[in-house]
Amino acid sequence: MTEKDLLYDTILARSFSKNEQKRLGYGAFIASLLFVFTLCTVFKPFLSPLPIVELQLSVDAGLRMLRVTESQKPQALRSSNDVTSGDSEKLAIPTNQDNNITSNATTTPTLISSEDNNLSVSNETSLPNNHFDSFNCTTNATISKEQAISGEFSKGDIMEETMKPICNKLARTEFCELSGDVRIHGKSATVLAAITSAFSGNSTWQVKPYARKGDVAAMNRVREWTVKLTQNADQLENASFSRCVKSHSVPAVLFSLGGYSMNNFHDFTDIVIPLYTTARRFNGEVQFLVTNKNPSWINKFKETVRSLSNYDVIYIDEEDETHCFSSVIVGLHRHPEYFKELTIDPSNSEYSMSDFRRFLRDTYSLRNAAVTTRQSRRRRPRILILSRGRSRAFVNAGEIARAARQVGFKVVVAEANTGVASFAQTVNSCDVMLGVHGAGLTNMVFLPENAVVIQILPIGGFEWLAKTDFEDPSKGMNLRYLEYKIAPEESTLVRQYGRDHEIVRDPSAVAKRGWEMFKSVYLVQQNVSVDINRLKPVLVKAFELLRRQ
Ligand SMILES: *[C@@H]1O[C@H](CO)[C@@H](O)[C@H](O)[C@H]1NC(C)=O
Ligand SMILES: *[C@@H]1O[C@H](CO)[C@@H](O)[C@H](O)[C@H]1NC(C)=O
Ligand SMILES: *[C@@H]1O[C@H](CO)[C@@H](O)[C@H](O)[C@H]1NC(C)=O
Ligand SMILES: *[C@@H]1O[C@H](CO)[C@@H](O)[C@H](O)[C@H]1NC(C)=O
Ligand SMILES: *[C@@H]1O[C@H](CO)[C@@H](O)[C@H](O)[C@H]1NC(C)=O
Ligand SMILES: *[C@@H]1O[C@H](CO)[C@@H](O)[C@H](O)[C@H]1NC(C)=O
Ligand SMILES: *[C@@H]1O[C@H](CO)[C@@H](O)[C@H](O)[C@H]1NC(C)=O
Ligand SMILES: *[C@@H]1O[C@H](CO)[C@@H](O)[C@H](O)[C@H]1NC(C)=O
Ligand SMILES: *[C@@H]1O[C@H](CO)[C@@H](O)[C@H](O)[C@H]1NC(C)=O
Repeated sequence: MTEKDLLYDTILARSFSKNEQKRLGYGAFIASLLFVFTLCTVFKPFLSPLPIVELQLSVDAGLRMLRVTESQKPQALRSSNDVTSGDSEKLAIPTNQDNNITSNATTTPTLISSEDNNLSVSNETSLPNNHFDSFNCTTNATISKEQAISGEFSKGDIMEETMKPICNKLARTEFCELSGDVRIHGKSATVLAAITSAFSGNSTWQVKPYARKGDVAAMNRVREWTVKLTQNADQLENASFSRCVKSHSVPAVLFSLGGYSMNNFHDFTDIVIPLYTTARRFNGEVQFLVTNKNPSWINKFKETVRSLSNYDVIYIDEEDETHCFSSVIVGLHRHPEYFKELTIDPSNSEYSMSDFRRFLRDTYSLRNAAVTTRQSRRRRPRILILSRGRSRAFVNAGEIARAARQVGFKVVVAEANTGVASFAQTVNSCDVMLGVHGAGLTNMVFLPENAVVIQILPIGGFEWLAKTDFEDPSKGMNLRYLEYKIAPEESTLVRQYGRDHEIVRDPSAVAKRGWEMFKSVYLVQQNVSVDINRLKPVLVKAFELLRRQ
């Protein structure tokens, strides 16, 4: 046993002592979360979607707590052979087990698409749910990802039939890609598909079409759909809703606007980006079918939705008439790794974050690149100070603005409470964005290339979240990232409770008393009074970064 195994066992022993779900406070377990994360990286080839940690996000704050559940087979971590988590499944067309892909298949599920463009087993979180032993990662087959995605193979390829997986259950999302005769009945949340390609495995799938699988609170707010596959079109004729009342000539994408929708961070990481990677390739010729009706969301993102689809969305839940398509995707694509937010994995997608940002710039008519300070005689670089109205507000925004002006910036102070299109313009007109950790920082997607993001961390142990939610994503967006962690004295909590109070000294102790308590203290009651002398070097650094590009 390695040291990590032992350490992990200790954590497990503590966390899994009873057959109960034990809520772990957020702050207290950042360390163990980091550890689990490291472990997952190390053990990833053998790990089904991160079996032990579920994250929950509060709708208002964009912050999480950890929940550890007993049910999820910690021993899978220890044995490379024990990859039995039912969490990760793929239904693919059959292959045999000897690495040669042929049409004469046994029923071993296989995996398609990987970090490179060749057909091989992904070393990411999406492993087949069983048959790991019989799986060999060194296939020589050379079928491009594009072919695998489109399901098209020319003669002479090793593949003789389509080998596109039909239903996929990955770490963070599940989706079915159906082509053939597909009929959708909203009222019963059923998709019937007589598909053209061969398939093996289950013919009935339950799918929640929202890309934050593993997050119980979010997924509880997502309607579950039943996808029934058949190769026999006659079976469709016998179904109660067989008759096509509305036939559509374009493909459809069915997705949910439940979950954490209307939280800006989640809107992008769970819906907008996945929707983009799923639907962009149709070039507008795609019908969106929305489950968990939410007209406010459609209105909030109307420009984006219009860019992706030439048709008005259909709220499908109440539809009693059968809608028919020849191609439907139920659910959305998402980066296959569990802890990746606001990110597209270009090896798993036709698109990258650069493509996504270019798409946003086209959609909202934005400029491409930040100014350099060399140009600054003509135009001073602008800094956006993101203000917040109720919680984690800047006590001294005026002083911050003055300091920024002294450094050489033109200052814009704004709160992200206008419409997306208008705020996108505001953000995009700036070269630096500074804000306290929170969903408002998601607006970094609208910053021009090479701009700088400054994230301010309140007290309470936000390092890991700050990194996962904004620092790592900013790098994928070709932005520069700076961080400023406040000292306890800069938090209003000190004024309120005193320097020696447990709340200031030991956030983890507060976290142990429960999520609501933690949230109310650090996310709601805490405002930030920045020490200008400490902040100023960060502003100077941002200014200098704009010169270097
Ligand atoms: C794959 O198929 C080729 C030709 O059909 C055969 O020569 C080779 O031995 C097979 N590979 C394996 C690993 O079975
Ligand atoms: C497929 O497998 C079956 C039984 O395993 C065998 O009878 C048949 O000849 C195989 N077909 C091809 C094309 O290899
Ligand atoms: C894909 O496989 C081919 C042939 O095996 C190889 O030449 C090529 O470098 C591979 N591509 C990648 C991206 O690994
Ligand atoms: C996946 O494989 C690629 C190439 O083999 C490697 O560079 C990468 O680090 C691997 N990723 C993980 C998470 O193991
Ligand atoms: C995979 O198959 C190749 C060729 O059949 C073999 O040399 C290799 O040892 C196998 N790898 C594993 C991990 O079984
Ligand atoms: C697989 O690729 C390796 C190296 O490219 C080659 O030596 C081997 O013969 C190939 N095996 C098959 C079955 O094509
Ligand atoms: C098929 O579905 C059942 C019930 O959902 C599940 O228990 C079983 O593991 C699935 N089998 C495969 C091969 O996916
Ligand atoms: C469909 O219904 C017809 C008549 O009711 C029956 O003969 C046929 O077997 C049914 N087909 C299926 C696939 O159930
Ligand atoms: C934080 O600042 C906001 C806005 O000024 C204010 O409404 C709120 O009461 C402040 N909260 C605390 C705990 O000071």
